[in-house]
Amino acid sequence: MIRYFENMDEFKSKLNHKKFEEQGSVSAVCPSNIALIKYWGKREIQIPMNPSLSFTLNKSRTETELKFKPNPTNDFSLKVFFEGNHQPDFEPKIYSFFKRIEDFVPFLKDFEFEIHTSNTFPHSSGIASSASGMGALALCLTEIENLLGADLNADQKLKKASFLARLGSGSACRSVYPGVTVWGKTDSVSGSSDLYAIPYPYKIHPIFKNFRDTVVLIEEGQKSVSSTAGHDLMNDHPYAEKRFESAEENLKKLIPVLKNGDLETFGTIVEHEALSLHAMMMTSHPYYILMKPDTMKLIENIWTFRKQTSVPVFFTLDAGANVHVLFPENQSEKVSQFLKEKAGNHKMIEDFTG
Ligand code: PMV
Repeated sequence: MIRYFENMDEFKSKLNHKKFEEQGSVSAVCPSNIALIKYWGKREIQIPMNPSLSFTLNKSRTETELKFKPNPTNDFSLKVFFEGNHQPDFEPKIYSFFKRIEDFVPFLKDFEFEIHTSNTFPHSSGIASSASGMGALALCLTEIENLLGADLNADQKLKKASFLARLGSGSACRSVYPGVTVWGKTDSVSGSSDLYAIPYPYKIHPIFKNFRDTVVLIEEGQKSVSSTAGHDLMNDHPYAEKRFESAEENLKKLIPVLKNGDLETFGTIVEHEALSLHAMMMTSHPYYILMKPDTMKLIENIWTFRKQTSVPVFFTLDAGANVHVLFPENQSEKVSQFLKEKAGNHKMIEDFTG
Protein backbone atom coordinates (compact mmCIF):
# COMPACT_ATOMS: atom_id res chain seq x y z
CA MET A 1 0.00 0.00 0.00
CA ILE A 2 1.31 3.48 -0.88
CA ARG A 3 1.45 5.96 1.97
CA TYR A 4 2.34 9.57 1.49
CA PHE A 5 4.97 11.82 3.03
CA GLU A 6 3.82 15.39 3.40
CA ASN A 7 5.82 18.46 4.22
CA MET A 8 5.15 19.90 7.68
CA ASP A 9 6.90 23.26 7.20
CA GLU A 10 3.68 25.22 6.95
CA PHE A 11 2.98 24.36 10.61
CA LYS A 12 6.22 25.80 11.91
CA SER A 13 5.42 28.93 13.88
CA LYS A 14 5.92 32.33 12.28
CA LEU A 15 6.63 33.89 15.68
CA ASN A 16 10.05 35.43 16.15
CA HIS A 17 12.06 33.33 18.52
CA LYS A 18 12.36 35.04 21.88
CA LYS A 19 11.41 34.33 25.45
CA PHE A 20 7.81 35.44 25.87
CA GLU A 21 6.91 37.18 29.12
CA GLU A 22 3.16 37.65 28.68
CA GLN A 23 0.49 36.21 30.90
CA GLY A 24 -3.20 35.62 30.44
CA SER A 25 -5.78 32.97 29.71
CA VAL A 26 -7.60 31.62 26.67
CA SER A 27 -10.43 29.14 26.37
CA ALA A 28 -11.92 26.80 23.80
CA VAL A 29 -14.71 24.29 23.42
CA CYS A 30 -14.36 21.18 21.29
CA PRO A 31 -16.83 18.35 20.74
CA SER A 32 -16.15 14.64 20.47
CA ASN A 33 -16.71 12.76 17.22
CA ILE A 34 -17.82 9.36 16.07
CA ALA A 35 -16.01 7.72 13.17
CA LEU A 36 -18.05 6.03 10.46
CA ILE A 37 -14.90 4.97 8.60
CA LYS A 38 -12.50 3.95 11.33
CA TYR A 39 -8.90 4.89 11.87
CA TRP A 40 -7.13 1.81 13.26
CA GLY A 41 -3.41 1.45 12.71
CA LYS A 42 -0.76 4.15 12.43
CA ARG A 43 2.89 4.78 11.78
CA GLU A 44 5.19 7.40 13.32
CA ILE A 45 4.22 10.04 14.19
CA GLN A 46 0.47 9.67 14.33
CA ILE A 47 0.17 9.09 10.60
CA PRO A 48 -2.91 6.98 9.90
CA MET A 49 -2.63 3.80 7.85
CA ASN A 50 -5.99 4.50 6.23
CA PRO A 51 -8.29 7.48 5.80
CA SER A 52 -11.17 7.94 8.23
CA LEU A 53 -14.41 9.91 8.18
CA SER A 54 -16.45 11.04 11.15
CA PHE A 55 -19.45 12.97 12.33
CA THR A 56 -18.53 15.61 14.86
CA LEU A 57 -20.98 15.53 17.74
CA ASN A 58 -22.75 18.43 19.28
CA LYS A 59 -23.51 17.95 22.94
CA SER A 60 -20.53 15.87 24.06
CA ARG A 61 -17.87 18.53 24.46
CA THR A 62 -14.77 19.45 26.40
CA GLU A 63 -14.43 22.98 27.69
CA THR A 64 -10.88 24.07 28.43
CA GLU A 65 -9.35 27.18 29.88
CA LEU A 66 -5.60 27.52 29.52
CA LYS A 67 -3.93 29.96 31.88
CA PHE A 68 -0.34 30.96 31.22
CA LYS A 69 2.30 33.05 32.97
CA PRO A 70 6.08 33.38 32.68
CA ASN A 71 7.98 30.20 33.54
CA PRO A 72 11.16 30.68 35.59
CA THR A 73 12.44 27.19 34.64
CA ASN A 74 13.75 25.96 31.29
CA ASP A 75 11.48 22.95 31.14
CA PHE A 76 7.78 22.35 30.51
CA SER A 77 5.62 23.36 33.42
CA LEU A 78 1.98 22.40 33.55
CA LYS A 79 -0.80 21.47 35.92
CA VAL A 80 -4.08 19.87 34.90
CA PHE A 81 -7.35 20.48 36.73
CA PHE A 82 -10.31 18.32 35.78
CA GLU A 83 -13.68 19.59 36.90
CA GLY A 84 -12.01 21.82 39.46
CA ASN A 85 -9.67 19.20 40.95
CA HIS A 86 -5.94 18.92 40.41
CA GLN A 87 -5.39 15.75 38.36
CA PRO A 88 -1.67 14.85 38.31
CA ASP A 89 -2.41 11.52 36.57
CA PHE A 90 -3.56 13.44 33.45
CA GLU A 91 -0.26 15.31 33.23
CA PRO A 92 2.15 12.75 31.70
CA LYS A 93 -0.02 12.56 28.56
CA ILE A 94 0.06 16.34 28.20
CA TYR A 95 3.86 16.40 28.76
CA SER A 96 4.30 13.91 25.92
CA PHE A 97 1.95 15.97 23.78
CA PHE A 98 3.95 19.15 24.49
CA LYS A 99 7.20 17.36 23.66
CA ARG A 100 5.79 16.19 20.36
CA ILE A 101 4.51 19.58 19.29
CA GLU A 102 7.41 21.68 20.58
CA ASP A 103 8.85 22.23 17.09
CA PHE A 104 5.57 23.80 16.02
CA VAL A 105 4.69 25.73 19.20
CA PRO A 106 7.88 27.52 20.21
CA PHE A 107 6.53 29.17 23.38
CA LEU A 108 5.69 26.01 25.34
CA LYS A 109 8.68 26.29 27.70
CA ASP A 110 8.22 30.03 28.17
CA PHE A 111 5.09 29.61 30.23
CA GLU A 112 3.76 27.88 33.28
CA PHE A 113 0.43 26.47 32.19
CA GLU A 114 -2.68 25.64 34.14
CA ILE A 115 -5.17 23.60 32.15
CA HIS A 116 -8.69 23.74 33.55
CA THR A 117 -10.90 21.30 31.76
CA SER A 118 -14.34 19.76 32.06
CA ASN A 119 -16.59 17.57 29.92
CA THR A 120 -20.30 17.81 29.29
CA PHE A 121 -20.43 14.00 29.41
CA PRO A 122 -19.34 11.58 32.13
CA HIS A 123 -15.60 10.86 32.14
CA SER A 124 -14.67 7.35 30.95
CA SER A 125 -18.20 6.79 29.70
CA GLY A 126 -16.83 5.57 26.41
CA ILE A 127 -17.28 8.90 24.66
CA ALA A 128 -13.92 9.79 23.15
CA SER A 129 -12.78 12.40 25.67
CA SER A 130 -9.25 12.32 24.27
CA ALA A 131 -10.64 13.64 20.96
CA SER A 132 -12.53 16.56 22.47
CA GLY A 133 -9.86 17.18 25.13
CA MET A 134 -6.89 17.30 22.76
CA GLY A 135 -8.98 19.27 20.27
CA ALA A 136 -9.83 21.92 22.88
CA LEU A 137 -6.23 22.14 24.08
CA ALA A 138 -4.90 22.50 20.53
CA LEU A 139 -7.43 25.28 19.87
CA CYS A 140 -6.24 27.06 23.03
CA LEU A 141 -2.61 26.85 21.89
CA THR A 142 -3.34 28.36 18.48
CA GLU A 143 -5.25 31.11 20.28
CA ILE A 144 -2.16 31.90 22.38
CA GLU A 145 0.01 31.80 19.28
CA ASN A 146 -2.18 34.52 17.79
CA LEU A 147 -2.15 36.55 21.01
CA LEU A 148 1.63 36.51 20.77
CA GLY A 149 1.44 37.88 17.24
CA ALA A 150 1.34 34.93 14.84
CA ASP A 151 -1.56 36.40 12.91
CA LEU A 152 -3.09 33.13 11.75
CA ASN A 153 -6.42 33.73 10.01
CA ALA A 154 -9.47 31.65 10.98
CA ASP A 155 -8.78 28.88 8.44
CA GLN A 156 -5.07 28.67 9.22
CA LYS A 157 -5.86 28.53 12.91
CA LEU A 158 -8.24 25.59 12.55
CA LYS A 159 -5.86 23.78 10.23
CA LYS A 160 -3.00 24.20 12.68
CA ALA A 161 -5.23 23.19 15.62
CA SER A 162 -6.20 20.04 13.71
CA PHE A 163 -2.53 19.35 12.94
CA LEU A 164 -1.57 19.76 16.61
CA ALA A 165 -4.56 17.82 17.95
CA ARG A 166 -3.57 14.87 15.76
CA LEU A 167 -0.24 14.71 17.57
CA GLY A 168 -2.12 14.41 20.87
CA SER A 169 -4.68 11.83 19.81
CA GLY A 170 -5.19 10.90 16.16
CA SER A 171 -8.97 11.09 16.02
CA ALA A 172 -8.89 14.48 17.81
CA CYS A 173 -7.84 16.18 14.59
CA ARG A 174 -11.33 15.49 13.18
CA SER A 175 -13.09 17.12 16.15
CA VAL A 176 -11.83 20.60 15.38
CA TYR A 177 -14.37 20.97 12.55
CA PRO A 178 -18.13 20.58 12.88
CA GLY A 179 -20.23 18.27 10.69
CA VAL A 180 -18.52 15.63 8.58
CA THR A 181 -14.73 15.51 8.49
CA VAL A 182 -12.05 13.42 6.80
CA TRP A 183 -8.55 12.66 7.98
CA GLY A 184 -5.97 10.69 6.01
CA LYS A 185 -4.72 11.16 2.50
CA THR A 186 -6.91 9.46 -0.06
CA ASP A 187 -7.47 9.94 -3.77
CA SER A 188 -11.22 9.78 -3.07
CA VAL A 189 -11.30 13.10 -1.19
CA SER A 190 -9.59 16.13 -2.67
CA GLY A 191 -7.53 18.15 -0.22
CA SER A 192 -7.30 15.27 2.26
CA SER A 193 -4.13 14.91 4.30
CA ASP A 194 -2.41 12.55 6.69
CA LEU A 195 -1.36 15.54 8.79
CA TYR A 196 -4.72 17.13 9.60
CA ALA A 197 -8.44 16.68 9.05
CA ILE A 198 -10.51 18.67 6.59
CA PRO A 199 -14.21 19.49 6.49
CA TYR A 200 -15.86 17.00 4.13
CA PRO A 201 -15.77 18.85 0.80
CA TYR A 202 -18.64 17.21 -1.11
CA LYS A 203 -22.40 17.40 -1.14
CA ILE A 204 -24.31 15.95 1.80
CA HIS A 205 -27.96 14.93 1.58
CA PRO A 206 -30.29 16.76 4.01
CA ILE A 207 -31.23 13.43 5.66
CA PHE A 208 -27.84 13.60 7.39
CA LYS A 209 -28.54 17.01 8.92
CA ASN A 210 -28.72 16.65 12.72
CA PHE A 211 -28.20 12.90 12.30
CA ARG A 212 -28.64 11.27 15.69
CA ASP A 213 -26.07 9.33 17.67
CA THR A 214 -27.51 7.91 20.86
CA VAL A 215 -24.71 6.28 22.80
CA VAL A 216 -25.88 3.34 24.87
CA LEU A 217 -23.41 2.95 27.72
CA ILE A 218 -23.01 -0.80 27.96
CA GLU A 219 -19.87 -0.50 30.04
CA GLU A 220 -18.58 2.51 31.92
CA GLY A 221 -15.06 2.95 33.24
CA GLN A 222 -11.58 2.91 31.78
CA LYS A 223 -11.06 0.94 28.58
CA SER A 224 -9.47 -2.46 29.21
CA VAL A 225 -7.19 -2.03 26.18
CA SER A 226 -6.07 1.49 25.28
CA SER A 227 -6.40 2.63 21.70
CA THR A 228 -2.61 3.18 21.61
CA ALA A 229 -2.09 -0.52 22.37
CA GLY A 230 -4.76 -1.41 19.81
CA HIS A 231 -3.14 0.66 17.06
CA ASP A 232 0.23 -0.96 17.86
CA LEU A 233 -1.21 -4.42 17.41
CA MET A 234 -2.00 -3.54 13.79
CA ASN A 235 1.75 -3.44 13.05
CA ASP A 236 2.15 -7.20 12.86
CA HIS A 237 -1.46 -8.00 12.20
CA PRO A 238 -1.98 -10.77 9.63
CA TYR A 239 -5.00 -9.00 8.06
CA ALA A 240 -3.79 -5.40 8.36
CA GLU A 241 -3.21 -4.70 4.67
CA LYS A 242 -6.66 -5.98 3.72
CA ARG A 243 -8.24 -3.93 6.48
CA PHE A 244 -6.55 -0.72 5.30
CA GLU A 245 -7.73 -1.40 1.74
CA SER A 246 -11.22 -2.16 2.93
CA ALA A 247 -11.47 1.12 4.86
CA GLU A 248 -10.34 2.97 1.76
CA GLU A 249 -13.00 1.17 -0.32
CA ASN A 250 -15.70 1.82 2.26
CA LEU A 251 -14.86 5.50 2.24
CA LYS A 252 -15.07 5.57 -1.54
CA LYS A 253 -18.48 3.88 -1.43
CA LEU A 254 -19.74 6.24 1.26
CA ILE A 255 -19.22 9.38 -0.84
CA PRO A 256 -22.16 8.80 -3.25
CA VAL A 257 -24.26 7.60 -0.32
CA LEU A 258 -23.70 10.82 1.64
CA LYS A 259 -24.80 12.66 -1.48
CA ASN A 260 -27.90 10.64 -2.38
CA GLY A 261 -29.09 9.76 1.14
CA ASP A 262 -29.35 6.01 0.46
CA LEU A 263 -29.65 4.97 4.09
CA GLU A 264 -29.67 1.26 3.47
CA THR A 265 -26.25 1.35 1.84
CA PHE A 266 -25.11 3.83 4.51
CA GLY A 267 -25.99 1.27 7.18
CA THR A 268 -24.22 -1.55 5.36
CA ILE A 269 -20.99 0.43 5.08
CA VAL A 270 -21.06 1.82 8.61
CA GLU A 271 -21.89 -1.45 10.34
CA HIS A 272 -19.28 -3.27 8.25
CA GLU A 273 -16.69 -0.74 9.41
CA ALA A 274 -17.62 -1.19 13.07
CA LEU A 275 -17.45 -4.96 12.89
CA SER A 276 -14.20 -4.86 10.89
CA LEU A 277 -12.62 -2.76 13.63
CA HIS A 278 -13.61 -5.31 16.25
CA ALA A 279 -12.59 -8.18 13.98
CA MET A 280 -9.08 -6.68 13.96
CA MET A 281 -9.04 -6.72 17.75
CA MET A 282 -10.28 -10.29 17.87
CA THR A 283 -7.58 -11.50 15.46
CA SER A 284 -4.52 -9.63 16.71
CA HIS A 285 -1.74 -11.18 18.81
CA PRO A 286 -2.67 -10.98 21.63
CA TYR A 287 -6.37 -11.09 20.69
CA TYR A 288 -9.07 -9.45 22.74
CA ILE A 289 -12.81 -8.80 22.71
CA LEU A 290 -14.20 -5.44 23.76
CA MET A 291 -17.84 -6.19 23.01
CA LYS A 292 -19.93 -7.46 25.91
CA PRO A 293 -22.99 -9.73 25.80
CA ASP A 294 -25.23 -6.64 26.00
CA THR A 295 -23.41 -5.11 23.02
CA MET A 296 -24.35 -8.14 20.96
CA LYS A 297 -27.91 -8.20 22.29
CA LEU A 298 -28.47 -4.60 21.33
CA ILE A 299 -27.00 -5.12 17.85
CA GLU A 300 -29.35 -8.06 17.31
CA ASN A 301 -32.27 -6.01 18.58
CA ILE A 302 -31.41 -3.20 16.18
CA TRP A 303 -31.30 -5.66 13.29
CA THR A 304 -34.64 -7.24 14.25
CA PHE A 305 -36.33 -3.87 14.81
CA ARG A 306 -35.05 -2.57 11.48
CA LYS A 307 -36.26 -5.67 9.66
CA GLN A 308 -39.69 -5.60 11.26
CA THR A 309 -40.37 -1.87 11.01
CA SER A 310 -38.14 -0.65 8.15
CA VAL A 311 -37.03 2.18 10.45
CA PRO A 312 -33.53 3.19 9.27
CA VAL A 313 -31.53 2.71 12.44
CA PHE A 314 -27.94 1.48 12.49
CA PHE A 315 -25.08 1.00 14.89
CA THR A 316 -21.43 1.75 15.06
CA LEU A 317 -18.84 0.93 17.72
CA ASP A 318 -15.71 2.60 18.97
CA ALA A 319 -12.88 0.74 20.64
CA GLY A 320 -15.20 -0.31 23.46
CA ALA A 321 -18.44 -2.06 24.35
CA ASN A 322 -20.79 0.89 23.97
CA VAL A 323 -23.19 1.03 21.06
CA HIS A 324 -23.60 4.22 19.05
CA VAL A 325 -27.13 4.07 17.64
CA LEU A 326 -27.36 6.14 14.44
CA PHE A 327 -30.60 7.34 12.83
CA PRO A 328 -32.08 10.33 11.01
CA GLU A 329 -33.64 13.07 13.11
CA ASN A 330 -37.12 12.32 11.73
CA GLN A 331 -37.03 8.82 13.29
CA SER A 332 -36.24 10.08 16.78
CA GLU A 333 -39.55 9.21 18.37
CA LYS A 334 -39.68 5.64 17.09
CA VAL A 335 -36.06 4.93 17.93
CA SER A 336 -36.26 6.42 21.39
CA GLN A 337 -39.30 4.20 22.13
CA PHE A 338 -37.35 1.19 20.83
CA LEU A 339 -34.34 2.08 22.97
CA LYS A 340 -36.47 2.57 26.02
CA GLU A 341 -37.68 -1.01 25.62
CA LYS A 342 -34.43 -2.66 24.57
CA ALA A 343 -31.69 -0.68 26.28
CA GLY A 344 -33.61 0.76 29.19
CA ASN A 345 -31.26 -0.46 31.93
CA HIS A 346 -28.26 1.24 30.41
CA LYS A 347 -27.58 4.97 30.61
CA MET A 348 -27.77 6.79 27.30
CA ILE A 349 -26.28 9.96 25.93
CA GLU A 350 -28.40 11.47 23.19
CA ASP A 351 -26.24 13.39 20.78
CA PHE A 352 -26.33 14.48 17.17
CA THR A 353 -23.96 15.68 14.52
CA GLY A 354 -23.64 19.34 13.67
O1 PMV B 1 -7.53 8.66 18.31
P1 PMV B 1 -7.31 7.35 18.97
O2 PMV B 1 -5.87 6.97 18.99
O3 PMV B 1 -7.96 7.27 20.32
O4 PMV B 1 -8.00 6.22 18.06
C1 PMV B 1 -9.37 6.22 17.80
C2 PMV B 1 -9.77 4.96 17.17
C3 PMV B 1 -11.27 4.73 16.96
O5 PMV B 1 -12.03 5.56 17.80
C4 PMV B 1 -11.59 3.28 17.26
C5 PMV B 1 -11.66 4.99 15.50
C6 PMV B 1 -11.70 6.42 15.07
O6 PMV B 1 -11.40 6.65 13.89
O7 PMV B 1 -12.09 7.29 15.86
